[in-house]
Amino acid sequence: MKLTTQLAIAYPILQGPMLGVTTPAMVAAVANAGGLGSLPVGGLSPEKTHELILATKSKTDKPFAVNLFAHETSVSTSQADIDTMLNLLEAIYEDYGIPFSRPALTEFNFYSYQDQIEVLLHEQIPIVSFTFGLLEPAVVDQLKQQGSTLIGTATCVREAILLEESGVDIVVAQGVEAGGHRGTFLTDGPLPQVGSLSLLPQIVDAVSLPVIAAGGLFDARTVKAAFVLGAEGVQLGSFFLASDESAASEAYKTAVLSASDTSTALTRAFSGRWARGITNRFMEQVEQATLTIPYYTYQNSLTAGLRAYAQQNNIPELISLWAGQSASNSRRGKASDLLRSLIEQLDFDQEPV
Ligand SMILES: Cc1cc2nc3c(=O)[nH]c(=O)nc-3n(C[C@H](O)[C@H](O)[C@H](O)COP(=O)(O)O)c2cc1C
Repeated sequence: MKLTTQLAIAYPILQGPMLGVTTPAMVAAVANAGGLGSLPVGGLSPEKTHELILATKSKTDKPFAVNLFAHETSVSTSQADIDTMLNLLEAIYEDYGIPFSRPALTEFNFYSYQDQIEVLLHEQIPIVSFTFGLLEPAVVDQLKQQGSTLIGTATCVREAILLEESGVDIVVAQGVEAGGHRGTFLTDGPLPQVGSLSLLPQIVDAVSLPVIAAGGLFDARTVKAAFVLGAEGVQLGSFFLASDESAASEAYKTAVLSASDTSTALTRAFSGRWARGITNRFMEQVEQATLTIPYYTYQNSLTAGLRAYAQQNNIPELISLWAGQSASNSRRGKASDLLRSLIEQLDFDQEPV
């Protein structure tokens, strides 16, 4: 079955879910223009998840994907590592004259995808994508019984095979160029850092599922290259960063638009998970301090206040400027216009289906 038929969309182009950047308006704009919009809800409360799904549904009657985080939630971290990190954060707050208050561990709320599944089932979400892991078998069964199509994220061939074995319908092959967090979930070896040109054909050869390419795609040339390498669809994230519907602050958009091919790096500084963003002072300060960075759920919570403050106050040196290696090709304008212009450049003879 063609990917467009499987997902009930006109064009095999997905807007990559981007937590903190993607808004219901962006998802709906892409869906209404014939692509697949993806609503990121990773780590959000069930109430917020529901609110965002309803807000998206109020703007489109087309199908869209809801995107979950499938990471381990039970990993603990030592109080000593948290205290040392808080000392460093306090110094950074002071540098910028930002009021600091020391959070207690009990204030952190970690929501896992298990907390959100009831909402997705209730709202009959037709496409569920996820990253950072595998969904547990009972959840795969529940979603499939309801008729949801499942899309998992792989950053290496072994992860793609595990996703296929777990019963997903489609695999996203996330090359190392991609902006935002690595979807990596196999942690028994070095972090997979395979570029799309190498990753995509190797995953296509290793699994019998449709593969969606993600990482470094931004125009007709790069999208066509992904199709030549065996992709049945493409997922673009950074492409939409500077769009009107993006929640990125003006400082973030400016940093993206003035980036170059070498502006980004992989870092654990902001969240404790490897992610690609535009290098800035916060990344450098945390990395130079050579501390043990607490596990994702903790570090992400510890830096949440600072990241939100920096976005609101346009301080690019403290914002997690998630962006891919080709992010400077993002453009201002309506997400629907950006997508339409890409579709016009592509030779979709047979489309829409
Ligand atoms: C700001 C930002 C946030 C992201 N958040 C998520 C997310 O919540 N879930 C997810 O599966 N992928 C996330 N990604 C990855 C994108 O969905 C997409 O796969 C990636 O951006 C593709 O590479 P590109 O940036 O080179 O286009 C994020 C990417 C960016 C740039």
